[in-house]
Amino acid sequence: MSLQIPDDLITTLAAAERVVVLTGAGISAESGVPTFREAQTGLWAQYDPRELATPQAFARNPRLVWEWYAWRRKLIQQAKPNLAHHALVDLEQALPTFLLVTQNIDGFHWLAGSRDMIELHGNIARTRCYEEGHVVSWWEETDELPPRCPHCGGPLRPDVVWFGEGISEQALRSAFDAAAACDLFISVGTSAMVQPAAGLPLLAKRMGARVLEINPAQTALSVIADWSLQDKASNLLPQLVRRLDFPTNAIDGAEQ
Ligand code: OAD
Repeated sequence: MSLQIPDDLITTLAAAERVVVLTGAGISAESGVPTFREAQTGLWAQYDPRELATPQAFARNPRLVWEWYAWRRKLIQQAKPNLAHHALVDLEQALPTFLLVTQNIDGFHWLAGSRDMIELHGNIARTRCYEEGHVVSWWEETDELPPRCPHCGGPLRPDVVWFGEGISEQALRSAFDAAAACDLFISVGTSAMVQPAAGLPLLAKRMGARVLEINPAQTALSVIADWSLQDKASNLLPQLVRRLDFPTNAIDGAEQ
C-alpha cells in the first residue's frame, strides 16, 4: 500500500520558488547499487572504509583500492537509474529554481537527465592522476594496477572524494548558498550522517525552509523534518510529481 502524501506538502511544493534536493545511496538502492550503512546489506557492514576509501589506504595498497572501485564501477555500469531519479528530472523541469546535490558517485542523476546538479563526492566513472589531480580519459592498459597516468607516470585513482579529503570549495559554496536560500529542502535516501552534506538540511531549516525527508528508516534528520515520509524513494517521488499536477484540486478538496 502506498503512503498518503499530506496535502500541505503538495501545496508547499507547488508554491515553492526555490527547492534544493539532497540525495544519498538510498535513491539508487532500487537500481541494485548497495548503500553504505544498512545493517546487513550496506557496504560498510562488509568492508572497512579505512582500508578502501581513504588516501592512506590508497598509499598502503593502491591495487586493492583500485580493484574495489573497479568492482563497484562494474556494478554501477550494469544498473540504471530508477523511477526516483526520473521523478527528480520532472521536478527540475517543473520548478522555477531547483538544485540537486548528490552524495552519490554513480552518475545516475545525470544519466536520468538531471542537469542542475552538484556531485559532492565525485563520479566513479572518472579517473584522475593521484599525483597531479587532473582527470585522465585514456591510459595504457598493462598488467599493472592501478594503471599509470599517461602524463606523469603517477598512479591513477577514481575521481571520488575519500574520507579525510576535501570537497571542491566551489561545489560546497554553491550547495550551502542554495540551502540557505531555499524555501523547501528535500532529503532523499541518505542517513544524514556524513558531513558536510548532513549540514545542508540543518542550515536550510535554520534559515526558515520547510524540510521533507523521504527514507524508509528514521534518521537524525527525521525529528527536525516538517514531513518525514517513511517509504521508498521510487514509490514516493513519482507520486509527488503526479500530485503536483493537481495542486488546485487538492486545495479545493476535489477528487484526486
Ligand atoms: P547510507 O548508506 O549512510 O544511507 C542510505 C540511506 O538510504 C539509509 O538511511 C536507508 O534507510 C535509505 N534507503 C534505503 N533504501 C531506500 C530507498 N529505496 N529509498 C529511500 N531511501 C532508502 O548512505 P549515504 O547517506 O548516501 O561517502 O552515505 C553518505 C556517504 O557515506 C556516502 O556518499 C559515502 C559514504 O561513506 C564516501 O564514500 C565519502
